[in-house]
Parts: sequence; C-alpha cells; structure tokens
Amino acid sequence: MFNRETYIARRQKLKEKISDGIILLLGNVDSPMNYADNTYYFRQDSTFLYFFGLDFQRLAAVIDTDTGEEIIFGDNVEIEDIIWMGPQVALKEKTEKVGVSKTEPYKILQQTVERAISAGRKIHFLPPYRAENKIVLNELLGISISKLKAYSSLELIRAIVALRSVKEEQEVAEIKKACAVGYQMHLTAMKMARAGVWEQNIAGTIEGIANSGGGMVSFPVILSQNGETLHNHDHSNTLQNGRLLLVDAGAEIGSHYASDFTRTVPVSGKFTAKQREIYEIVLAANNRGRELTKPGSTYLSVHLAAAEVIASGLKAIGLMKGDVKDAVANGAHALFMPHGLGHMLGLDVHDMEDLGQIYVGYDEDTRPMNQFGTAYLRMGRKLQPGFVITNEPGIYFIPALIEKWKAEKINTDFINFDRLESYLDFGGIRLEDDILVTEKGCEIIGDRIPITPDEVEDVMR
Ligand code: GLY
Repeated sequence: MFNRETYIARRQKLKEKISDGIILLLGNVDSPMNYADNTYYFRQDSTFLYFFGLDFQRLAAVIDTDTGEEIIFGDNVEIEDIIWMGPQVALKEKTEKVGVSKTEPYKILQQTVERAISAGRKIHFLPPYRAENKIVLNELLGISISKLKAYSSLELIRAIVALRSVKEEQEVAEIKKACAVGYQMHLTAMKMARAGVWEQNIAGTIEGIANSGGGMVSFPVILSQNGETLHNHDHSNTLQNGRLLLVDAGAEIGSHYASDFTRTVPVSGKFTAKQREIYEIVLAANNRGRELTKPGSTYLSVHLAAAEVIASGLKAIGLMKGDVKDAVANGAHALFMPHGLGHMLGLDVHDMEDLGQIYVGYDEDTRPMNQFGTAYLRMGRKLQPGFVITNEPGIYFIPALIEKWKAEKINTDFINFDRLESYLDFGGIRLEDDILVTEKGCEIIGDRIPITPDEVEDVMR
C-alpha cells in the first residue's frame, strides 16, 4: 500500500475529471470454488486498489463529485470471524490509512444510491466483470444484468484510463519488483528445461516462485513445447530433444503490480541452425520494437515496424517473398505472427482490460485495424512517458492456419507455401520484455532476462 497522500491525490484528480453526479466503485468479494467456504484466492479489483488501496473483501465506495464527500461502505468483523481469522483491524482504522474518514455499514449503500437516483443524479459505475458484482449493481441500480455494460459511464472509464495509464514512479518501482520475481521464474524454467522433464513440473515450480515472493502468478502460466499455440495452458507433455520450449509467465506481487515475460529455449540446450535462424528474426523484431518505442509514436506503428522485420527476415530465408511493405500492408506476416506486439501492464497484466480495450489501447487518432493479426493488437495508441507496455513479437508455424491459407490461396504473392512443409513441426518462438516509456525513448524494466541465443545456451549449460 502507498501512503495516504497518494490515494487522496488520485481521488482528487478523478473528481476533477468527472463533471457531476456520484462515482460508485465496487471492491470484489470472495468467490466460491466448490462450496461457499472454499474460495478462490481473493483478488481485489484493480481500480478499487488504485483509488483506495484497501485489499479486503466486500467494500464499496461512493465519491460525490459535487460535494467532494467520500464514503467507504463495509462491515466490521464479528466475534465468529475473529475466532476463525484472528484479530482484525477495524474498518475505520483501515480507511483512515487511505485518507477516507467516513465509513458506513455495507447495507447503507443501497439507500445512498437510491437517494442519488431519486434526486435525478448521474451514477457513474464501471462495466462489471465479476458475476457477484453484476448482481450487486443489478440490485442497486435496477438495471438488468445484460444491460449493465451499456449503461456504465464512459466519462468515468476515460478518466480512469487517463490516470492509470501513466504510472507514478512508485508504481514503476513495484512493477520492477514484479519483474525481479519474473526473472527468477524464467531463469529457473531455463535451467530445468531438458529432455524427459514433464512440462507441469516446470510450470508448478515457477508458479511456486511467484507464490513464495508473497504474491501469485499474474496469469495462468503458458508453458509448452507446442509453442505455436499462442496461449497453451496444457502442460502435459514430456520435453523432447529437438523441440523448443516456450514459457510465457509473470508474477503479481503483494501490491498486485504485475510482470509478464516470454522466453523460448531449445530443450536440448543448444539451438539447431534452423531454430537459431528463426529465433534471430524474432529477437531482431523485439529489439526494433524497443528502439522505436518513444513518446509521440503510436504503438500501432511500432507493431507494424516489428512485423516488417519479421517479414523481411522470413523473406531472407525463403519463407516469404515479394515486397516487404506490401506484404505487411496485406497482413501476410500474420500467418506467422497472428497477434499484437503488446499491451499495457500495471495492476493488471493486461492493464485495465476490464474497462474496454478500445479505451485503453486506442484513441480518436489511432483506431484499431480489423485485419487478421493486427486486429489482436491490444495497445495501438500514441505513447506517453510513464506508459508500461509489453514488447512481444513472435513467429509461429501453426499447421491448421498454414493449411487454411494454402487451401484458400490467401496471400500467395507473399508466402512460399511449399517451403513451409518442413516447418510444420517447428513450434513457435515469442520473446517478451516489459518496457517503460521514458521522456526520450524507453527502457527495459529491471534486468533483462537472458535473451540472445548464446546467453540462453549459457544459462542452460
Ligand atoms: N502474456 C500473456 C498475455 O499477454 O496474454
């Protein structure tokens, strides 16, 4: 948790951005796994954490933008809770640490909201992503669950995106800590990777590292020798020599700031010439992406420049052909990289994705492209100092996609389909760093996880 002035200042900025009415922000509640008392790990809502810092269940907050009043709704624990959970800090003591002096029992939230509705005041709320909070909003506002998103406040979404997108120094320091845990996770995976090892064994070990750092993984570990499947959560294979192991994993530390890295290593400990050739292209795209990341540039343009590096590299080894710029303009590179270059990172691994990707990753000047591949780019808009984003190009050989494009004669001017036959069992390579946009350019956050082929082979040795 940061100091109380941090939260007071953030809420003040939020109030200044909202013209009138009340802002209603809901914290999360425990969610049952298989019966009511056996719950999933509790994860507070990130926006609630950003403005109130309180990492506890069943809280809500109302900010009156006209009077400036702030109220936190929640309940003190009963003696039964103390017996099971131990002594608990009183709600008032918690809220004072974040600069909120007024608290009310949770049940009072209903009448506070009803009073505002009766007075014809605007209620600004965010699109809910948890079933429990959809029910709470439905009961508070009388809006049917299927319409809650449509009635959520665009003004509030835009205000929050503007504030959370630019990270404070203290937030970057937290992300750096998450990156340090991520570094250890990836180094351990590299050292464990060898023929005969069960993927789950590595996945479980690195998840434990995130956990032993006081947090958890920032998303379910992606780890597979079938790295051509972009988000492969199946860890059932036994590693085989000749294959590549792709690991996409990061940590969320106790403050809930996240890291997200991908590395790809040869199971045998040594890249074959064919693997090294493709790997070097992905590494060049990653480095080019970082070189071009600076304030004023759009991340869409950086994505397209990285795509050109990929198309040009694949052309040099005979897998693509034709003019590189035309190839990228036609989306031909997306046969090999059918995803975007990166996304925002912060309190969420895909920061603020719950608020709507269109508001987080795009603006009036930069609109999403609907071309296959680039359509998946989560972050396209103009960069500003303080943005934290991922830089994660990749090359994948996805047999079903190659088969489809070949059969449907898609981009035949740019793809040498016959040469791809010998790559169908190649897998995929992705290389991902977390970067901070600075005044002049950008920097990798924390120590860079070994990335050149030689560095990777050294670690594996
Ligand atoms: N690294 C996983 C993701 O970006 O979805």
